[in-house]
Amino acid sequence: TPITADIRLSVNRTEYPITVDTRETLLDTLRERLDLIGAKKGCDHGQCGACTVLVNGRRVKSCLTLTVTLGEEEITTVEGLADGDTPHPLQTAFVENDAFQCGYCTPGQLCSAAGMLAEAAAGWPSVVTEDVSTSPRLDGREIRERMNGNLCRCGAYVNIVAAIAEVAP
Ligand code: FES
Ligand code: FES
Repeated sequence: TPITADIRLSVNRTEYPITVDTRETLLDTLRERLDLIGAKKGCDHGQCGACTVLVNGRRVKSCLTLTVTLGEEEITTVEGLADGDTPHPLQTAFVENDAFQCGYCTPGQLCSAAGMLAEAAAGWPSVVTEDVSTSPRLDGREIRERMNGNLCRCGAYVNIVAAIAEVAP
């Protein structure tokens, strides 16, 4: 018999009271229970980043996150990135830079990029130079390193990095 738990999940500023199987991943909850199908199931093993969402502004792979561990946290999926009808600046930049082909990786790329910009704004050290004394300048190399958890099977990396660089400070 599955073990279940009653939780309140806050996704894109909406509360969802749900009963979850304690083995259920956040990715399955979002896609199969809440009809939020933006986050994609690529590998289901933490290797591709297609399922990336934000939990309290930090990027996580939802295929590796058990829903039952969440409750107080605010979850943001690609469906919640825009501000009403105004796209998130990253979404605009992805369109303008043609930063996708099939689009399967794009929701994860967008959420991951949004999380990365927040990390940089919070003054996390560079992952390229490992200089802990300064906030990193988000040049192409730094962006590529920080986005290396998000694969694109179409190989749209050049345009993805260009789009993110346009938004990066
Ligand atoms: Fe989660 Fe691939 S589906 S990392
Ligand atoms: Fe097709 Fe990235 S655009 S996987």
